[in-house]
Amino acid sequence: MAQQRGEIKRRSLDLARDYDVLLEMEKLSWEINFPQFSFSEKGFRVSLISGVQARYEEIYVYERGNELVGWLWLDLSAPRKGGHIRRVQVKKEYWGQGLGRQILWDAISICAERGCRAVTLNVTKSNERAVRLYTGLGFTVVEDFGERQSMRLEIPSFKREPQKRK
Ligand SMILES: CC(C)(COP(=O)(O)OP(=O)(O)OC[C@H]1O[C@@H](n2cnc3c(N)ncnc32)[C@H](O)[C@@H]1OP(=O)(O)O)[C@@H](O)C(=O)NCCC(=O)NCCS
Repeated sequence: MAQQRGEIKRRSLDLARDYDVLLEMEKLSWEINFPQFSFSEKGFRVSLISGVQARYEEIYVYERGNELVGWLWLDLSAPRKGGHIRRVQVKKEYWGQGLGRQILWDAISICAERGCRAVTLNVTKSNERAVRLYTGLGFTVVEDFGERQSMRLEIPSFKREPQKRK
């Protein structure tokens, strides 16, 4: 995917500028995916900083106009196993508009460009919106952890984004 697709534009994370918006999305994601655990802002901040500093991790935000509407965190340290999506989140007021799908397409494209043979992620089974998003793109369950599951998409088999009609 190019830098720009439709209405959203990707750029690298600017931690100081973007942190508060990411924190808001992370807190909601935590409530949805880990309702039995309390959220630790310190834990989030520390792991995010380590992600920014890690050589094989890439963190992007997506903007519509000047508004940050979603973000993506990729671990690309094991391309043979697959690029791993550590976070994909969209601001709640924009859910259901196809932004999650666009960010996923972008994630798959980035992984393909970095030479990964697959894309992997872990998801809470009760998170129906996310599971449907991944399944719709062709991800399949490869491991069951009880409340959570690991999913994988082989890159050659992913369903490409339909071309826009001219
Ligand atoms: C999961 C998330 C990224 C999806 O973002 P989104 O912008 O709403 O996704 P989309 O609009 O592209 O919708 C994708 C799919 O969700 C599914 N979906 C949409 N509305 C839904 C609903 N009300 N209930 C269940 N599934 C729904 C559909 O399958 C849809 O695909 P379709 O339109 O082709 O049918 C977003 O809800 C989010 O940020 N959640 C909190 C963070 C999180 O849980 N992230 C995933 C962790 S693994």
